[in-house]
Amino acid sequence: MARLLLTLVLSLILAAPLTQGAAAQDATEAPVSDRSATGGAQTLEDILARQRGEEVPSRARSDDPDSAGAMVGQLGSLGGASDSDVWSALRYGTADVTVSSGGAPARVLIQDRGMWWLEFREGPLTKYGGWLLLGTIIALAVFYVVRGRIRIDGKKTGRTVTRFGAVERFAHWLMAGSFILLGITGLLVLMGRQFIIPVFGHEAFSTAAIASKWIHNNVSWAFMLGLVLAFVFWVGHNIPNKTDLKWIAVGGGIFKKGVHPPAKKFNAGQKVIFWSVIILGASISASGLSLLFPFELPMFAKTFNILNDTGLPQTLGFGALPSQLAPHEEMQYAQLWHAIVSFVLMAIIIAHIYIGSVGMEGAYDAMGSGEVEEQWAREHHSLWLEELQEKGKAADPSKAATPAE
Ligand code: HEM
Repeated sequence: MARLLLTLVLSLILAAPLTQGAAAQDATEAPVSDRSATGGAQTLEDILARQRGEEVPSRARSDDPDSAGAMVGQLGSLGGASDSDVWSALRYGTADVTVSSGGAPARVLIQDRGMWWLEFREGPLTKYGGWLLLGTIIALAVFYVVRGRIRIDGKKTGRTVTRFGAVERFAHWLMAGSFILLGITGLLVLMGRQFIIPVFGHEAFSTAAIASKWIHNNVSWAFMLGLVLAFVFWVGHNIPNKTDLKWIAVGGGIFKKGVHPPAKKFNAGQKVIFWSVIILGASISASGLSLLFPFELPMFAKTFNILNDTGLPQTLGFGALPSQLAPHEEMQYAQLWHAIVSFVLMAIIIAHIYIGSVGMEGAYDAMGSGEVEEQWAREHHSLWLEELQEKGKAADPSKAATPAE
């Protein structure tokens, strides 16, 4: 009896790890749904599993007619095709869709690969874009508290010099006014659903969204015109040179009182602003035009191809970028690029607006009246002031001090 008991206990102990292992194995394996009723096509269980984010083979219908589900009842209006056949064909773009207008893009009724775009747009794009702008504003507020307003250090002369003529100021304000409108309306279109609807309701958002879209689409032309004018007027003054290195070496004197590195008409900081506005502004304009004329100006597949040829995405670990894009994917990439680059430029421009207004005494006048205090010009653009003096466009104190013979 004792031997029998011992054998029983031993066999239980030895068998336990085996049964535990089998249970663990079962838990890790993905459940395979029974597809016999659908002839191998996906079941409701499969769809729900995919929605939970689990891996499910997407096309499971077998080509073997013998594995098809049993025919029950009369054929309906779909003939031999089942609902899931039709939906599957629509989803994978193999359905024979005919449209009377709209061309190839209109034949795409379901764009299966659009979900990641939608999720990215509503998720990380909105979140990190919003934080970038808020972070910039907070950083500038901290800078203001620590450094205060950058004052004109020397004694004011009471004399002014002309910094920007009327046409230059027109170009600046055309570009600036339109950019601010585009920024606000763009943010409303992107974030309104999440932030306006919960507070003000659907009606209010609908009105705001329709107005924003109209303003955004039409004001874009003013921005592009302003951008071209600003480029033509100021590109000559924005070519980097050796003076910029000296300016950068002392941080432009922005962080310390009484430090005034020499600069011509535009200092290195302004050159960074200028080229950011031109390059990012041009890129935003290009992607914006692509969105304004849907499906007419696809540019991403070509760009990705060129990038793939350079080998850069592969080196950076992204692998080859998709070189064949459906019309809708082109639009999705255009939207993302447009928004990402706009966020970066908006953050830069917020800093620019700060320094051009509250951040620095005397700066706003340059774009307001066009006339700046001579001492301001001496402190921030000494080489430019010397040029004006040589040309006789600014009073030259050294000559005035020379006694007349
Ligand atoms: C209320 C908004 C703005 C204010 C108060 C403002 C102010 C100024 C001022 C005072 C200057 C001349 C700086 C100097 O004399 O050295 C300037 C230049 C400039 N602004 Fe603006 N600006 C504003 C918006 C914008 C916007 C939205 C853009 C572009 C999208 C822009 C682009 C430029 C560029 C490219 C320059 C020449 C380079 C530079 O000085 O940094 N500005 N702005």
